[in-house]
Amino acid sequence: MDGDSQIATESQTTFAVEPSTALAYLDPHYWDQRFAHEEHYEWFKEYSHFRHLIRQHVEPNSSVLEVGCGNSQLCEELYKDGITEITCIDLSAVAVEKMQKRLQSKGYKEIKVLEADMLDLPFGNECFDVVIEKGTMDVLFVDSGDPWNPQAATVSKAMAMLRGVHRVLKPDGIFISITFGQPHFRRPIFTAPEFTWSVEWNTFGDGFHYFFYILRKGRRSSESNGLMEKFEMPSVSLFHDELETEDYLFRTNLDEL
Ligand SMILES: C[S@@+](CC[C@H](N)C(=O)[O-])C[C@H]1O[C@@H](n2cnc3c(N)ncnc32)[C@H](O)[C@@H]1O
Repeated sequence: MDGDSQIATESQTTFAVEPSTALAYLDPHYWDQRFAHEEHYEWFKEYSHFRHLIRQHVEPNSSVLEVGCGNSQLCEELYKDGITEITCIDLSAVAVEKMQKRLQSKGYKEIKVLEADMLDLPFGNECFDVVIEKGTMDVLFVDSGDPWNPQAATVSKAMAMLRGVHRVLKPDGIFISITFGQPHFRRPIFTAPEFTWSVEWNTFGDGFHYFFYILRKGRRSSESNGLMEKFEMPSVSLFHDELETEDYLFRTNLDEL
């Protein structure tokens, strides 16, 4: 975690970045308020921890859509790695405005940043090689109830997101989902019959593992229906205090219901 302070101070105002309930993550006002006070926070992990996986799957000339960019530096890191055709979206107008200013000031003028809802993507069909999200889909699950049997409303939102992602991907495009959502919870939605993508995953992190899913459109095989393949990679050794300062999205409200 690239954790900035959990308490951000601006002028005389103190804003507690970590909400009292995970349900706040579903509230656009929470994000606007948070981003008004916070300059940078990297959910889960910085780019260096999963860069080897990005480089394995994303060609430099790919057109990339980052969903729910917040104030992350992921787009800058991708750009520095030669992946320059990037569009970022976020539901928070504050995040978008600050990200636009930050990228302008750093000279990353080609990166587009738009205010948009991932549940209703404002893009045509088949226009991106890669869609990537880090911790954004997880927001939809904070009120899912029993993770083994999420509420219908949660599943409906997650499916709306995935339908949009699947639609905007080019025929051989990939969706990269970086999450703590474990395969047994993600499998039912990723492998819904309407999707043509194959589903693979890897993990990164030390102690606590984060998941790096690769969903490749048009590659679903009949044998893999309902299944997901784990692809093998050399193990990565990380020296980092996992979760110590994590701002838990997965502090679900199970005990609050
Ligand atoms: C947990 S943060 C992750 C931020 C960033 N991806 C990172 O890795 O640091 C979730 C982000 O998703 C955004 N978000 C939440 N709901 C959204 C929606 N429906 N459409 C687009 N962005 C959304 C929030 O404003 C916030 O920036």
